[in-house]
Amino acid sequence: MLTLLSIFLLLSNVLSLDQSLNCDKKFEYEEGKRCCKKCLAGEFMAHRCSGQSETKCNPCSNGYYNEDYNNSYKQCKSCKGCYKEHMKVERNCTLTSDAACMCEDGFRCSDKNCETCVKVRTPVPTKPPVPTALCSSEKRDSKCSECTEEEEVPMPVQEVCEKTLEDV
Ligand SMILES: *[C@@H]1O[C@H](CO)[C@@H](O)[C@H](O)[C@H]1NC(C)=O
Ligand SMILES: *[C@@H]1O[C@H](CO)[C@@H](O)[C@H](O)[C@H]1NC(C)=O
Repeated sequence: MLTLLSIFLLLSNVLSLDQSLNCDKKFEYEEGKRCCKKCLAGEFMAHRCSGQSETKCNPCSNGYYNEDYNNSYKQCKSCKGCYKEHMKVERNCTLTSDAACMCEDGFRCSDKNCETCVKVRTPVPTKPPVPTALCSSEKRDSKCSECTEEEEVPMPVQEVCEKTLEDV
């Protein structure tokens, strides 16, 4: 048992030696048999590491951002602007996060990314519900008879009932 374990340990040791570098993929990348630092969020990579020099990173400039470590970023991403009609800034862009837009009162975003603002339809005032008493007393023999027991009337039936009353 012990020999088996030691053989296993030896093997895994050899294997790991044989493997290329074990760079921490989140923070590092492999370059010329060594691990080099990725640039931080809010920065972009100006130069990959080489020889003895470490990765050269520069901060994003104003109006640009990078939200994550990413050594493939040669530049920062451009922040989105909230310039469309009836649009305003919900969250300003930072070095590490994009801006978010929202719409002025009376408007709502057309989609999740708030590409445009569309007018909110003013809600039609709802008519007061037709009292069931009226229904049952005046129109007992029509379709309205279905409405006599208020608690048990499902919504669609109630609507049918209201329509019938209006049409009369
Ligand atoms: C890094 O950025 C590039 C370009 O935007 C993208 O294609 C890639 O998926 C990113 N990688 C990671 C690990 O986020
Ligand atoms: C965004 O930044 C502008 C200019 O610095 C500022 O006037 C505005 O209040 C900020 N908006 C939000 C939502 O933080």
